[in-house]
Amino acid sequence: VPEPRDGQILVRQTWMSLDPYMRGRMSDAPSYARPVGVGEVMVAGTVGEVTASHHPDFGAGDIVQLYGGWQDYALSNGNGVRKLDPAAAPQHALGVLGMPGLTAYAGLLEIGKPRAGETVVVAAASGAVGSLVGQIARIKGARAVGIAGGAKKVAHVKEVLGFDDCVDHRAPDLPGALARACPKGIDVYFENVGGAVQAAVWPLLNEMARVPVCGLIAQYSDEAPRPGPDFLSILRKHLTVRGFLVGHFAGLAVDFRREVGGWLAAGRIKYQEDVVEGLERAPQAFLGLLKGANFGKLLVKIA
Ligand SMILES: NC(=O)c1ccc[n+]([C@@H]2O[C@H](COP(=O)([O-])OP(=O)(O)OC[C@H]3O[C@@H](n4cnc5c(N)ncnc54)[C@H](OP(=O)(O)O)[C@@H]3O)[C@@H](O)[C@H]2O)c1
Repeated sequence: VPEPRDGQILVRQTWMSLDPYMRGRMSDAPSYARPVGVGEVMVAGTVGEVTASHHPDFGAGDIVQLYGGWQDYALSNGNGVRKLDPAAAPQHALGVLGMPGLTAYAGLLEIGKPRAGETVVVAAASGAVGSLVGQIARIKGARAVGIAGGAKKVAHVKEVLGFDDCVDHRAPDLPGALARACPKGIDVYFENVGGAVQAAVWPLLNEMARVPVCGLIAQYSDEAPRPGPDFLSILRKHLTVRGFLVGHFAGLAVDFRREVGGWLAAGRIKYQEDVVEGLERAPQAFLGLLKGANFGKLLVKIA
């Protein structure tokens, strides 16, 4: 057991969180976080009791939350250490009222933005994040459909957590079962797993659906990137990927013509035209467009 020095506290740890992100800390692949070095203490969120304090803000007996790692005792200088109410279940600070809970709450409400009557789908639905996503979705009036592994978890998600439906991703025909559980398609897919589950969800997404990319646990042990867009970089770099068709923005047309028209007239926008003379040359010019033969905005001068 280490001795706290000036400015430090010693915490006897009583609870430790295990989380999927730890998989990433066990790899030296490029990441937002430094991997845990060989011989270092593995990272983890923890809860414990201060047993000795040389820090003005903490005293012996305080129940605290910290990132104390996989060990019985942790020393800390107090940075990021939070006192907990000893009367409340302190381990909730590592789950439903902690990092996983905030993940569900923020990802669903800030990015998913579920509206009453919409369908919200989440996988790992019986887990720390997913269980809260579906229940908050229902509180907001949406229909919550979970995806979970095995009959026991599926029953729990429906009967205890109160989701409207739940399908088993280990049973045969996940795409068919999911389509039956989501007869009006999917408006919010809270991405927790990636892989085969993501592939089953994708064709069911409705127009203007939102996909908070929270976790890709099915892919954390991949040794090579999967084909197609790399969802891990969407997750780690907070990328915004949103499709659009211009007709959706017809309401911007008046502002657009005023602003861009002004820039064009003032010479702040350069604009090149590629003019083909004669309607009879249109087919050939169109084929050229698909191969890069045009240089600038392709127009046919008819008369
Ligand atoms: N973005 C963030 O800041 C953030 C923060 C916290 C968590 N997360 C992510 O959120 C997700 C859930 O985390 P959690 O802490 O709540 O864990 P959890 O759901 O309590 O536990 C992980 C669950 O993932 C499911 N799973 C594992 N491998 C799978 C696979 N190959 N295909 C489908 N499902 C699989 C399993 O549930 P089933 O048996 O039901 O399949 C497993 O129980 C993870 O991807 C995690 O990395 C992200």
